[in-house]
Amino acid sequence: DAAEKGGYEHYMRKEIHEQPTALRQALSGRIDLDRAGVDLDLEFPQGCLESLEEIQLVACGTSYYASQYAAQLLEEVADVRATVEIASEYEFDGGRDPWRTLVIAVTQSGETADTLGAIRRAAGAGARTLAVTNTLGSSVTREADDTLFIRAGPEIGVAATKTFVSQVATLALLAVDIGRGRGTLSTADARDLLGDLRGLPGAVQQVLDEEDRVLKAAREFRDSESFFFVGRRFGYPVALEGALKLKEISYDHAEGFAAGELKHGPLALVTDKTPVLAVLTDGTRAGETMNNVTEAQTRGAPAIGAVSAGLETGSLDIGLEVPNVGIFEPLVANVYFQLFAYHVANLKGRSIDKPRNLAKSVTVE
Ligand code: G6P
Repeated sequence: DAAEKGGYEHYMRKEIHEQPTALRQALSGRIDLDRAGVDLDLEFPQGCLESLEEIQLVACGTSYYASQYAAQLLEEVADVRATVEIASEYEFDGGRDPWRTLVIAVTQSGETADTLGAIRRAAGAGARTLAVTNTLGSSVTREADDTLFIRAGPEIGVAATKTFVSQVATLALLAVDIGRGRGTLSTADARDLLGDLRGLPGAVQQVLDEEDRVLKAAREFRDSESFFFVGRRFGYPVALEGALKLKEISYDHAEGFAAGELKHGPLALVTDKTPVLAVLTDGTRAGETMNNVTEAQTRGAPAIGAVSAGLETGSLDIGLEVPNVGIFEPLVANVYFQLFAYHVANLKGRSIDKPRNLAKSVTVE
């Protein structure tokens, strides 16, 4: 067991530290900078991806937040309408043109019953289906028309970490593929984006090297009453994921909000015992988000921000630097949140790899 954990006390911390490698595997051999394209080895009929009118992503838990990130990427990069639904809420109503709709099931395990049910409904109505998964031979690979593997390697900790970033990176490649195929993404923009993607493993490593600072923050705030995570645009799903991680493994109350919504209710909960953790990077309208953070600070809340390198924010109690990788910066900010959740839970002696009441993969609807 100790050997399998590679010297780490928990699989979760090992898997957090495996993210640069997981990302390199996700990108390996798939990027062609010369033609500013990607090669994903998908076997959809010729022209199918190009003629799409709508993409629907279905997923649960962390995969759902990765899908929210990816849907924004698909809209921005590929200029295709993209929606996300929680798999257990998904009904394919057949009202749209099924042949021009691609339904993507995003599932680490490939075995989540709700996600399998959703993809079956979509396939039954005639939509094309794609599985994005980490697991070779899993059920979803048999249900979907085609599969894209995220290549993160096995994830043992119940709380998903490295698979989140690998899912988003893989879906970013798909967004480039579709954008190039449809002619909506220019060569220059594709090169920029692929360059940022290539910078992601190194950026994540730089954050991992700052772990001691996060441990210090965890020591300082471990006894807080609640933790609020906020972000805008690409920062919003990261805020939701940050809160999910913390509640899963520390059992503390944590909640993610769209930063702009703080003032529409949650601000009533803010005190000096409710730290606010904010994503203040590229792709998150950091200036406006900082205004919302300041409103919470005015009510006494301590503020921790993951901030783009070189960006001036107002005063934060703790500022954590995020290297510049464009719209992937919120993913890098997420690594700080993972480490924060891990250390708060570890200081409390929680069962980090197997939190109470939770399972790695949920095979009942
Ligand atoms: C369970 C796990 C979560 C995971 C979710 C979806 O709830 O505890 O970590 O995000 O299932 O799993 P999937 O394998 O479909 O990504």
